[in-house]
Amino acid sequence: MTDNGQPRRHGGTPTSAEVAESLAARRRAERGERRRSPDAPPERHLDDTEAKRSERVIATWFIVAFLAGVAFLVLYWIFPAGGPINAGVSNKLLGGCLTLILMSLAIGVMLWVKRLMPNKEMVDERHEFRSSDEDRREFGEYFVDTAESTQITKRPLLRRTLLLAAAPLGLLPLWLLRDMGPLPKKDMFTQPWRKGMRMVLAGTQDSDSPRLLKLTDITDFGSAISAVPEGITDFNQIATAALLVIRLRPDEIQGTRRGALQRKASVNGICAFSKICTHAGCPISLYQQRTHELLCPCHQSTFDMSDGAKVVFGPAVRPLPQLPITVDKDGYLVANAKYFINGPVGPSFWERGPDRNTNG
Ligand code: FES
Repeated sequence: MTDNGQPRRHGGTPTSAEVAESLAARRRAERGERRRSPDAPPERHLDDTEAKRSERVIATWFIVAFLAGVAFLVLYWIFPAGGPINAGVSNKLLGGCLTLILMSLAIGVMLWVKRLMPNKEMVDERHEFRSSDEDRREFGEYFVDTAESTQITKRPLLRRTLLLAAAPLGLLPLWLLRDMGPLPKKDMFTQPWRKGMRMVLAGTQDSDSPRLLKLTDITDFGSAISAVPEGITDFNQIATAALLVIRLRPDEIQGTRRGALQRKASVNGICAFSKICTHAGCPISLYQQRTHELLCPCHQSTFDMSDGAKVVFGPAVRPLPQLPITVDKDGYLVANAKYFINGPVGPSFWERGPDRNTNG
């Protein structure tokens, strides 16, 4: 029980002796009497020289925490987690620094409480909902009294070094935002195809003699092959630029608005669509010749390749982009624009905006 008769926070059913003590304490509190707990340790009286020495020791721990925080920031910059070896080194160094920060802070605060603050008995009063005005006033006094007990106002060195030690901790979350990677900027809207670029049979672009595709190479109606731009060997660029080139009979392309656009962007029924699914970016090649449908193996989005690659089933929400193509004077199939119809290549993203033909 507290001196003013309020129950302390502890578990279990009070014994009869505790109940009697509680009632007695309440009566004492009502009479305005206070007494020290018999279990309370003797009050400590600080010797000024000893207090100064403790203050310096505590401040040293706070400075150690600050230096460890700075080391964390610097090491994070020096060892970016770009690979398993770097990540391993980086994790150990950063974890070590973080441990040192928290440990130094904990030791500093513990010494502060142990060596500088008076060891008087603290009473934790229980309140229900809003406290009475009197309790609130008392709390204010208690708060000021406690603040004075910590000597935080009297000891600017401790106050400042504590704030200094905590400052890197406040910065760490912002610093770690770097892990979110570089902003994509215009990357989501760009791809390597440019007007006049020739098509190469996918898989031969790295060989000594890349197989350039000619109009006469795709003679069968219903055939489907993969193609990439000539001269592009970078893996990431090829992944963006991969095409599925299919040939339809001109009368198989539907008479819809999409079909009209598809026909305009094709040559002799040969159409070039992006192979990257507009749902989540899987590469698609499962072409069903008789139904003109292209099926994505990941989540079964199905595109009608005779109607501008319109989505007829599955979670994709927009058609596959189509690259306008033509034939150059030597008979090679080439891009006829630097953009795709139906918007950017790849999965949809929230800032893509309405479909547009700017993809270059
Ligand atoms: S990635 Fe093609 S349907 Fe999901």
